[in-house]
Amino acid sequence: MPGVSARGLSPEERRQLAVNLTRVLALYRSILDAYIIEFFTDNLWGTLPCSWQEALDGLNPPQLATLLLGMPGEGEVVRYRSVWPLTLLALKSTAYALAFTRMPGFQTPSEFLENPSQSSRLTAPFRKHVRPKKQHEIRRLGELVKKLSDLTGCTQVVDVGSGQGHLSRFMSLGLGLKVKSIEGNPRLVERAQRLDQELLQALEKEEKKNPQICAAWATASGTGSPSAAEPGDPPGPPGPGEPCGGLLQPGTSSGPAGRDADSAGPAALPSGAGIPC
Ligand SMILES: C[S@@+](CC[C@H](N)C(=O)[O-])C[C@H]1O[C@@H](n2cnc3c(N)ncnc32)[C@H](O)[C@@H]1O
Repeated sequence: MPGVSARGLSPEERRQLAVNLTRVLALYRSILDAYIIEFFTDNLWGTLPCSWQEALDGLNPPQLATLLLGMPGEGEVVRYRSVWPLTLLALKSTAYALAFTRMPGFQTPSEFLENPSQSSRLTAPFRKHVRPKKQHEIRRLGELVKKLSDLTGCTQVVDVGSGQGHLSRFMSLGLGLKVKSIEGNPRLVERAQRLDQELLQALEKEEKKNPQICAAWATASGTGSPSAAEPGDPPGPPGPGEPCGGLLQPGTSSGPAGRDADSAGPAALPSGAGIPC
């Protein structure tokens, strides 16, 4: 399956792709947004149009994969045992046309060139317990949210489905955003709270070693005095006298050479910021 790659698309083409994806997701939300468990709990099968049920009923998983994903195994011929309804064929073609490529046509992000499991653009306390892929994701997404917040004057971020809170912690303690985190799984909430405490302690230690880091906060982030955390939320960014730690490594956002191969823009914190908190 070749798939779409956003690389090489103009901003307008990217916008159009996002519009198309959002349209399809909205049209077929009930099945595309579903969890497997909901097949059993919400009778997803019963929500399908009768003509789809007739076409799909009795197919085993490999047959479904072949027919829906259009990926026949070696020597296999795709055979439809009945005429599929146009709506189902339309979804199949649309999904095919909009799927992102799975071909690894990218370069290793520069932050992992030195060490494939440690992003050089996050400091150690923020990497702890976070897998490399997640490190990359939270940094990219967090910086994007920070940039959008700065551009729009947004003062609050809500992380819905915050899981263990990796992204929330990065945005809050790392980028100085005021974050509310919502998570439905109590075990993950408990784990997130433990990780919050662990990170705060690590940052406190860091601050004791480098007290000047906190003094740099207001000017480095340009956010002024950070706001306080709300009870029950992952803690907000460090305030005066509160623990604080460098998150993005200094000097990594200073220009194209310091960016990821796939970075869409400069890092959230300005270059020349010294050691940002
Ligand atoms: C992929 S994880 C998110 C990971 C997280 N953002 C991070 O950076 O580590 C999605 C989370 O959404 C939570 N979730 C899904 N539906 C939810 C709902 N309706 N209300 C609250 N949490 C939900 C799941 O429990 C899961 O932890």
